[in-house]
Amino acid sequence: MRIDVITLFPEMFQGPMSESIVNRCIQKGDLDLTFHNPRTFSTNKHHKVDDYPYGGGAGMVMSVEPLARCLDTLLDQRSYDSVIYMTPDAKVWNQESANATSLLQNIIIVCGHYKGIDQRIRDKYISQEVSIGDFVLTGGEIPAMTLIDSVCRLLPGAIGNAESALTDSFQDRLLSPPVYTRPAEYDGMAVPAVLLSGHEQKIAEWRHEQALSRTKKIRPDLLD
Ligand code: ADE
Repeated sequence: MRIDVITLFPEMFQGPMSESIVNRCIQKGDLDLTFHNPRTFSTNKHHKVDDYPYGGGAGMVMSVEPLARCLDTLLDQRSYDSVIYMTPDAKVWNQESANATSLLQNIIIVCGHYKGIDQRIRDKYISQEVSIGDFVLTGGEIPAMTLIDSVCRLLPGAIGNAESALTDSFQDRLLSPPVYTRPAEYDGMAVPAVLLSGHEQKIAEWRHEQALSRTKKIRPDLLD
């Protein structure tokens, strides 16, 4: 899978994208992650990329031209399955969205900053708008990393045990059941006996019951 990220702050990705599963995907050649800074596409002598909003109000708006030039350059090179814009005023990302996106070949992610990007970029180029939750961050970079991480771990071979990704919270619209590892007793607290029984069916039933009761208690909306 190829992901082109358009961002004013490519350095922000360096740490999170160079560890663990995402890094392994990159090293194996399963994920090609490339960054493009709209500032390098600005023809302004000060490499300006934003301007005051028409109609007034606080904050700056990312200008059309550097973004349009950057997007045109990419779109001339290959075809893309989706051009995604990270923004809080959009449908919220979930596991279903990650599953669907993990099947795509080439995507572009546009990270907004300041007050967001000029609406005409959204109208002309963006095919999908994504929020990671009902709160406002300082820019689209952390949301973009969240999206990339959730997609990357679903690529074939990304996780050692493929079953692990399928039994995650939300894959069946249930939260995960509790998990334990050694020792079997800690500070007077014992691991539930069923997990030590070796009885696969009983363990599966217990896990399902726990997942259901956790979901009912914490996220009843998932069961609607
Ligand atoms: N940019 C700022 N806040 C965001 C959010 N919640 N989701 C996606 N992009 C954003």
